[in-house]
Amino acid sequence: TASDQATAPTIEIAAHAGTCYGVQRALDMALAAAPQAGECTQVHTLGPLIHNPIVVRELAEAGVGLAENLDDAATGTVIIRAHGVVPQVIDAARTRGLNVVDATCPYVKKVHMAAERLVHEGYRVVVVGEPGHPEVEGILGHAGDDAQVVSCAADADALPLKGKVGLVVQTTQTAQNLAEVVAVITPRVQELRVINTICAATSERQQAAATLANRCDCMVVVGGKNSGNTRRLAQICADACERTYHIEEASELQAAWFTDAHHIGITAGASTPQEHIERAVERIKELCL
Ligand code: F3S
Repeated sequence: TASDQATAPTIEIAAHAGTCYGVQRALDMALAAAPQAGECTQVHTLGPLIHNPIVVRELAEAGVGLAENLDDAATGTVIIRAHGVVPQVIDAARTRGLNVVDATCPYVKKVHMAAERLVHEGYRVVVVGEPGHPEVEGILGHAGDDAQVVSCAADADALPLKGKVGLVVQTTQTAQNLAEVVAVITPRVQELRVINTICAATSERQQAAATLANRCDCMVVVGGKNSGNTRRLAQICADACERTYHIEEASELQAAWFTDAHHIGITAGASTPQEHIERAVERIKELCL
């Protein structure tokens, strides 16, 4: 009816969405290190500061460039990402005379320290996480020479393990995956010590996304397509709500997605600034007029 058409859908943002403490802190540190007008010092992040191409572009506009490695950042300041790095990278940067701004998230630092403590206490360290992910690489740099990465229970099952094993966890892993890995390893080793280093920011976002997706007939997930935690949020939403769309920026939104939608939910990965969420909300409002 005409009155139905006139009713704009409700747009609801998940109770926890967007930049987490560590990413916001890294962004603030990078912007604070940006060259001032007239200053000719070079400032680079070592790798993209966060898995969000739009943020990387915005930083470049502020004078914070992107260096793939230390050779690319020959002089000036280098910013270490929230993900952290292996300790050798910071040492090498300092040896080259670079000014190092270490924006490693304090919660990632805790994983590094937990891994070091386990090594010190004679445990073989197993990192539950995504092989090759920069955070996991950084953790491995603190986890002793015989450390291994497992991404799931099947990986853990294939690993020859015995003796004293200590687990640390990539901050963005799920509690369920950790529980499955623990269940597989426990019967096979003499002692298993689990240091649960999952960051609450991730599970809060995941729970809030699931709760909201259950109530909505359409879900929009905002964040980098290359961001693991954003992709997981999109998966969680898709499980509860068939009409789930993962976008990087508001311009990707399409009116057809919201046909007959009464309740549209929005969530965003831990690398998505609040501003990007607001832009998406504004665009959805325009499209649903
Ligand atoms: Fe840090 Fe947790 Fe974010 S580990 S970078 S606050 S997801």
